[in-house]
Amino acid sequence: MKIGIISLGGKSSKALAEACKEFFDSVDELDLKQFKVHLTDDGIGINYNGKDFDEYDCLYIRGSYKYALLQRAIAKALFKKVYMPIEPKSFSLAHDKFLTLLELQHAGVAIPKTYYASNTDLAKKILEEVNYPIIMKVQEGTHGKGVMIADSLKSARTILDILEEFKKPYLIQEFVKTKETSDIRAIVAGNKVIAAYKRVAKEGEIRTNIHSGGKRKPYQLNKSEEKLAVKSAKAIGAELCGIDIFHSDRPSVIEVNLSPSVYRIGNVAKTNVLREIAKYLYLSTVKFKEKKQEKIKKKISKIKKSEEESKLNAHESYKENEEKIEKKKSNKKISKSKSVQKKASSLQQYLD
Ligand SMILES: Nc1ncnc2c1ncn2[C@@H]1O[C@H](COP(=O)(O)OP(=O)(O)O)[C@@H](O)[C@H]1O
Ligand SMILES: [Mg+2]
Repeated sequence: MKIGIISLGGKSSKALAEACKEFFDSVDELDLKQFKVHLTDDGIGINYNGKDFDEYDCLYIRGSYKYALLQRAIAKALFKKVYMPIEPKSFSLAHDKFLTLLELQHAGVAIPKTYYASNTDLAKKILEEVNYPIIMKVQEGTHGKGVMIADSLKSARTILDILEEFKKPYLIQEFVKTKETSDIRAIVAGNKVIAAYKRVAKEGEIRTNIHSGGKRKPYQLNKSEEKLAVKSAKAIGAELCGIDIFHSDRPSVIEVNLSPSVYRIGNVAKTNVLREIAKYLYLSTVKFKEKKQEKIKKKISKIKKSEEESKLNAHESYKENEEKIEKKKSNKKISKSKSVQKKASSLQQYLD
């Protein structure tokens, strides 16, 4: 079986490709930047490195929010034909922090209180109504970039001015206080969390991201956190993803990562995460192919059945026709013999 890992070539994607070699016959590392998409009345054409895209049994798309549209288009074109762990719509949902929260809230997942306004005047009003500190962040971003804390209305107004200058959509969110300034990253594969760890922010920092100096620490996820992570992944339509959970007075989810870091996290996660993901991709591909074959078999037997039925119908109508012809013939014979009889009796009259 053949898998393609579409990514920007990061360490995690490379390590995953390596791990997939244990299960798949062929593993291709594909560069997300080299994909082109064309839409026509007939469908979505996918072009890779100037050629029509190859056939795969499994495709796992990773990469940054900057490529959300491309990722969605590739997934849309191939989702029914090839096994893919992430649904097309997920690339738009998960890469936008507000859309993510909208979906999570709808699915009944606890989230931090979040405000959104499409213009600065309304945003200013929100700033007057909230309790401080608050978080202000851009809707699209990673590694903690674009996440700011305001501990007073004064600082919030200054941040608003900056956000206004950048002309990027943003959110206003309650600041969730956690022990040690930390969050939990749970890596979901289907109905299970295959790895989890804690991220603790560095001294004087509110962001737990590893890129902001955060440190990973072992963490034992409890049952309700595991349920929350799986539910969140399902709400977004991603079988494989990283869910970020605040372990506060009540657990809440802040983010879904479609391309979580899985490079060298085995020591804190206590499982061979790369192998678990590779195994999940392989087993899901097998299931997908079996289902597809089952569907094809059903279709073929339906066609055969309808062909047999139409043959039978044709035979029966042929028989009916034959009978009609026979009847007609015998009717003709009867009427002929009747007319002969009539003629004979009239001739008899003359002879008499
Ligand atoms: N509402 C919040 N309350 C407390 N900390 C927050 C909040 N939102 C974000 N953070 C901190 O900032 C980090 C980055 O925020 P996040 O929304 O995950 O953006 P990114 O996509 O850049 O990681 C989080 O991991 C968390 O440590
Ligand atoms: Mg994050």
